[in-house]
Amino acid sequence: MSSSENAPRRWIRRAGEARLEFGADYNPEQWPRAIWDDDVRAMREAGVTIVSLAIFSWARLQPAEGAYDFAWLDDAMDLLHAGGIAVDLATATASPPPWLTTKHPEILPVNAEGSTVWPGARQHWRPTSPVFREHALRLVRALATRYRDHPALVAWHVNNELGCHNIYDFSDDAARAFRAWLEARYQSMDRLNEAWGTAFWSQQYSDWEQILPPRLAASHPNPTQQLDFKRFSSDALKEHLRAEKAVLREITPDVPVTTNFMVMGEQKPMNYADWAAEVDFVSNDHYVVPGPQARDELSFSANLTGMLAGGRPWFLMEHSTSAVNWQPVNVAKRPGELARDSLTHVAYGADAVCFFQWRQSRAGAEKYHSAMLPHAGTDSALFRGVAELGKRLRDLAPVAGTPRTPAPVGIVFDWESWWVAEQDSHPTDRLRYRQEALDWYTALLDQGIRADVVPAGGDLERYPMLIAPILHVVPAALAGRLTRYAENGGHLVTTYFSGIVDENDHVWLGGYPGALRDLLGIRVEEFAPLLDGDSVALDNGATGTLWTERVDVADSGVEVLARYRDGKQAAITRRPVGTGSASYVSTRLGAAGIAPVLPSLLRPAGVASELPPELRGRVELAIRGEHRFLINRTDEPIDLPGGAGVLDARSVLVM
Ligand code: GLA
Ligand code: GLA
Repeated sequence: MSSSENAPRRWIRRAGEARLEFGADYNPEQWPRAIWDDDVRAMREAGVTIVSLAIFSWARLQPAEGAYDFAWLDDAMDLLHAGGIAVDLATATASPPPWLTTKHPEILPVNAEGSTVWPGARQHWRPTSPVFREHALRLVRALATRYRDHPALVAWHVNNELGCHNIYDFSDDAARAFRAWLEARYQSMDRLNEAWGTAFWSQQYSDWEQILPPRLAASHPNPTQQLDFKRFSSDALKEHLRAEKAVLREITPDVPVTTNFMVMGEQKPMNYADWAAEVDFVSNDHYVVPGPQARDELSFSANLTGMLAGGRPWFLMEHSTSAVNWQPVNVAKRPGELARDSLTHVAYGADAVCFFQWRQSRAGAEKYHSAMLPHAGTDSALFRGVAELGKRLRDLAPVAGTPRTPAPVGIVFDWESWWVAEQDSHPTDRLRYRQEALDWYTALLDQGIRADVVPAGGDLERYPMLIAPILHVVPAALAGRLTRYAENGGHLVTTYFSGIVDENDHVWLGGYPGALRDLLGIRVEEFAPLLDGDSVALDNGATGTLWTERVDVADSGVEVLARYRDGKQAAITRRPVGTGSASYVSTRLGAAGIAPVLPSLLRPAGVASELPPELRGRVELAIRGEHRFLINRTDEPIDLPGGAGVLDARSVLVM
């Protein structure tokens, strides 16, 4: 099944004209009741249409076992509804209350060292705890029953950022569930032993009971055990999502269900390509981490989120109006960035722009995290900027509901390759899967080329050109699929450390790049990673870091696009295959180093920029049907050709 068939199809349950939703997490329980009326007034002033409610209010909703207090939430729901504001109601299961963890400390996660993860923050629960599950589902049932007919309710928000803090739990509950998961996957001890390569280091298992999560060990734990534990941990939280959803479906079949993903930066443990079909619409949280590619990273994340949604609209559940609180230094947004960040998400299919959170907290760990309504109050530049954004989104209502227009290039994104390529005991521990993918994305943006960041299980064949950076895990079927893709006219580009292992993390023999060796027409006998600070020069002027290889050309049709200066060995190759081609880059080039080789990769695929030459690189183009988004990537105003006006610094124009 292609990812678009798999993709979610329902949107929030709301009558009236299509619009771009605007809002935030709303945590009224942190404030005296008198403030709530001011909140709703100011929300209306800012153009807020929706809030996510009750995310962290389990202790308030259920002050003791068997005792519920819904009065305050009734009041908040009624008040919001009277103010014309819709509610994405949380199931409130993200942070179990002290009475529960005191009575049932066996729900607390255990880390790899065997230490308990104590309460005091949030998300201190084992994904596989039957006790936690029972209490959580009881709360979900009570909430769904209470609010099933409330007119403010437009969607359910399961838990919150599943896996943000508790993805890897090494407890006895996890061990039991891991064994059951392994039995379902392998069915026999022999198959597990074979898959895990347990002949190595005397790890042969003779009974399922002997198997543990990869807890702190004397040396490197079994890599396939690690990989399966990653798969299992992602599945365990997906199971929790399904369990809450089943209760919600039973009681409120008409209310769509979502949960906020974290497609951002180095958040890698949840395989969202595998989760996307579980929600009625995809939601995402994104926070900018400062750095030279911060803006492109936001675009990359928005882009990938939109592809998880099958190109259909998705919900930006959280981002920040300005600084966050959890980075070493929390940088405030510069003028223009609030709107540009928000509209970049819209450009890649978001039909909702929401923030953490509505009113900046006075107390608690997030009191210095920006919000829509800052400590300074409504008389502030930030609040005025928020209200302006609200107005801008109202004016952009015609964009709502429009699917993304596919790009000519697909960048293949594969969670399992990300997981495995960065495991321990490898040629280098410096390799960063997502950074390599982002470098290609930046290089394409620099040349004014649109790309879709597409999950490996998605509809790859639609793209004239596919870039598969560090496609490390290549089962035989995927190798076959990529070969047919090229034979049928597709142009594949891949890089170092691709094609190396199968689905069990076993190396394909006979020389690298293993499963892709014949397709690429090359053969590599040994990896040659580089030390920090070392680099290699290529004869096209580019510089490689991190990784090199001695690439032997094995097929006479292979064209060498660039060589290492030292030794003259091939560094970048291209093999014509059928009516397409397969290209290989054997070192880390970075965005600047990809630039000189990109034209020779794009040309045969017939991919050209859709932007006028003077805008390429400075402006990013994204297309949703008849709406073209021009995003200024720079800090300078840009004159649009043909006297079409000026694109302000850090701004977005929708035409
Ligand atoms: C996450 C959480 C929010 C809040 C923000 C802060 O996205 O879901 O509750 O903690 O981070 O950036
Ligand atoms: C030690 C061990 C070997 C092997 C090597 C790897 O020498 O005795 O089994 O692990 O390290 O360098």
